[in-house]
Amino acid sequence: MNILVTGGAGYIGSMTCKELVKKGHQVWVYDNLSNSKPEFAKWGRLVVGDINDVPLLTDTLRKNAIEAVFHFAGSIEVGESKLKPLKYYRNNVGGALSLIEALQAAGVGHVVFSSTCAIYGNSPKIPLSEDNPQSPVSVYGETKLIGEKMFHQAAATSDLCAVMLRYFNASGADPDGESGERHDPETHLIPLVIQSVYDQNFELKIFGQDYPTGDGTCIRDYTHVTDLAVAHVKALEWSMRTKTRFDAFNLGSGKGSSVREVIQNVERFTGKKAKYAVHGRREGDPAVLVADITKARRELDWHPRHSSIDEVVRTACNWHSSLGGYK
Ligand code: UFG
Repeated sequence: MNILVTGGAGYIGSMTCKELVKKGHQVWVYDNLSNSKPEFAKWGRLVVGDINDVPLLTDTLRKNAIEAVFHFAGSIEVGESKLKPLKYYRNNVGGALSLIEALQAAGVGHVVFSSTCAIYGNSPKIPLSEDNPQSPVSVYGETKLIGEKMFHQAAATSDLCAVMLRYFNASGADPDGESGERHDPETHLIPLVIQSVYDQNFELKIFGQDYPTGDGTCIRDYTHVTDLAVAHVKALEWSMRTKTRFDAFNLGSGKGSSVREVIQNVERFTGKKAKYAVHGRREGDPAVLVADITKARRELDWHPRHSSIDEVVRTACNWHSSLGGYK
């Protein structure tokens, strides 16, 4: 198939492009390179453009006879979304709307949307299944939820088939060493813990140690990026096969690790001590997010193979040391 990947030069998007190319698809990457570089788009033909540029998006879809779109482009940081909420409405809500308009103008029938477990907020029921109440506690989660609702309404009133993939914490690096997590500035836990063991000038901040969890720090479901990439391909195959108008799947490992457990794991793997200090909570962080992945296993035949915390940490550490690390 001819497939367009918005945000395809990003961390999860680029790994998905790699999986699509392995399956024999023709891939176009549509990315404004605001948080990535052209060389990260190595598994597709790059079109540099903004997600809110509807004429360019429509033209790209038409000219290349695109049959399906994976929509990764957007803003992704929980902490930043509190400080710059309108950026999140522009990129995540406006971006989804722009894409829907372009899909409809070009007559593209399939879209797979990067959603998030952040749409659930704080829930008394863990693990989280797809029918859990949706009550985001961050602007980021709120804007992704609005995006889901727009795809739902577009699918109900047109021929569009839309699949929502609600990721838990994407992490780890390509086992072949070709790609990994690299944001600028970096705000994600695992790369920052790795930095804290190698860079003597850097101290990790633990955001809160008074959560209702075993050691008081937040628990997340760290899910290997390669498993997420494979899930995208399976989601598209499922959508083509079943022609379901709208559905959503949680993608996680089904297991949670606390911030302190992640630190211990990195220390064990590297044989070095992390430097950290406990700070106050970061606004917008739910205490525990762990996935129930029964539905993705059953419907998509998706079985995460790389998402043990050991493999996540090992591949992430190897990737960082291949870049010269922080030594
Ligand atoms: N954390 C720290 N110190 C840091 C950074 C993070 O203690 O310097 C903690 C956070 O408070 C949180 C956990 O580590 O409890 C994970 O935080 P990340 O920033 O790595 O990830 P988030 O859970 O905030 O968000 C990420 C992605 C989102 C995605 C979400 C799903 O950024 O796009 O995972 O949970 F939706």
